[in-house]
This record gives sequence, structure tokens and C-alpha cells, in this order.
Amino acid sequence: MVDETRVHSARRYNYWLGGKDNFAVDRESGDLIAANFPTIRVTAVENRGFLRRAVEFLAGEAGIRQFLDVGTGLPTADNTHEVAQRLAPDSRIVYVDNDPMVLVHARALLTSTPEGRTAYLEADLREPGRILADDTLRDVLDLDQPVAVMLIAVLHFVRETEVAVSIVRTLLDALPSGSYVVISNATGDFADPETKARFDALMAAGKLDAFVRTADEVRELVDGLEILEPGVVPVSDWRADGESQPRPKPSEVAVYGVVARKP
Ligand SMILES: C[S@@+](CC[C@H](N)C(=O)[O-])C[C@H]1O[C@@H](n2cnc3c(N)ncnc32)[C@H](O)[C@@H]1O
Repeated sequence: MVDETRVHSARRYNYWLGGKDNFAVDRESGDLIAANFPTIRVTAVENRGFLRRAVEFLAGEAGIRQFLDVGTGLPTADNTHEVAQRLAPDSRIVYVDNDPMVLVHARALLTSTPEGRTAYLEADLREPGRILADDTLRDVLDLDQPVAVMLIAVLHFVRETEVAVSIVRTLLDALPSGSYVVISNATGDFADPETKARFDALMAAGKLDAFVRTADEVRELVDGLEILEPGVVPVSDWRADGESQPRPKPSEVAVYGVVARKP
């Protein structure tokens, strides 16, 4: 059921991206975060740019044709299947989210080229075994062939890094060599002491639900995998030579991105 009284990260993110699929409670939370971190909209736009460039690399140079996008969010411009199928029309994509509001909009995610396929599952990232065992997923994805797992701006809703590590490991263990994982996660590494203090206060008051990670903690998430160049960097700097310059400052973005390959 869609709950209009509780903040949902998908709807708040939609608000920051300038979308209309959000409620007053999401806008209030979004405004509170923006008052403490005025460049949050730059963050949201740069995070989407990272998603697009990572999928372009995967569907292009890396030759990936299967995507598992967990923590999909509400449909916006350049959803994973649109970017992938632009380059490789036979790409197959399974979307997963635990917000009923995303399910309501799933039809927009379920368009596909005739050669490819898209599917949507309502499931929780904290139950990766259930996601992998799902019949719809098995119908669309061949887990004997490489898959790119997209975990974009979702792992920071999992507080404990050990739990996040085990989620990534469970997903990648089920996939063959040559599979990839793409992660973006909020960070406090570039924040000045005042910003840090404001965020700690919001967290203590229960007004913030994203858990920041250091570069080392993000590296831990992909331990055992080959990290692609340029490594763990602000999403705005991941293979961004073709983007408008100058790039935003890392402190304005405050989200790390990484792409890693299973050897
Ligand atoms: C900030 S949005 C990111 C959307 C998209 N990945 C992007 O980067 O543009 C986070 C999404 O993760 C979803 N999410 C949060 N916790 C989740 C969980 N435990 N299981 C599945 N999805 C989750 C939210 O519902 C929301 O749609």
C-alpha cells in the first residue's frame, strides 16, 4: 500500500530530481536535508549521470546484456533499461524495489525493445536470496551468463557495513565470472566539521536515513572483486571526461561510485 504519511526515499529523491511523484511528507524531509546540504539536487543529478555512464560502459565496451537493478526508484529520464537498450537492444533488465509506490509506476519501467525484456519484482534488498530465487527473475535473466548488479544510492539505507557486504557477496556469488556490480553510496569524507555536525544532529533526531561510508568502507563492499579505473571516486568524477566541465566539487556531491568485476 502507498503510505502518504511516511517519508519514502524514492519519492524524496523524485522531488530533488524535479519530479511530481511525491507527497508533502517527502517534500518536507527533502527540504530539511536541502537546508542542511544545499547541493543535494546536484547530488541527485550527478548520481543519475553516474548510473548512465556506468550502464553505457557495461552495455557497450563490457558487452553485458543482463542487468539486475535493485533500489530502482521512481522512473525518470534514462532508466537502466533505456540506457542499456539504446546501445544493446537485446538487453534484459530486472528491476527490484521495496517501495509500493515504485510498483505503481512499474509500467513505465516495463517498456522494452522487442529484442530485450524488462521485469519488476517487489522485494527487499536485505533478502538477496529471495530476489535470486524469484521465478520472474529466473525467467528473464540467465544466471549462467554475466549480469551487472546495479546498487545505486540504495546500500546507504543499510546501516551496518557487514550486512551491506554480505548482500553484495550473496548477489555476486550467484553470478558467473565476468559479472559486475555498480555501487553508489553517500559519504561524509568531504564534509567540513559544521556539515558533519549538522548531519549527526539530524541522524540523532531520526530525520536522516542514509548512512554515509568512507572510501575504505565502499572498497570493503567490493572486496574480492576487480575495481575498475578510476576506482572509488565521487560519482561526478567516474569517467566523466565527456560531461560539462568543471565538474562539481566532491563536497557538493558527497556520494562515492565504484564499478567492480567478478574475476
Ligand atoms: C535514492 S533512490 C535511488 C534510485 C535509483 N537507484 C537511482 O540511483 O536513481 C533509493 C531507492 O532504493 C529503494 N530502497 C531503499 N531500501 C530498499 C530495500 N531495503 N530494498 C529494496 N529497495 C530499497 C527505495 O525505495 C528507492 O526507490
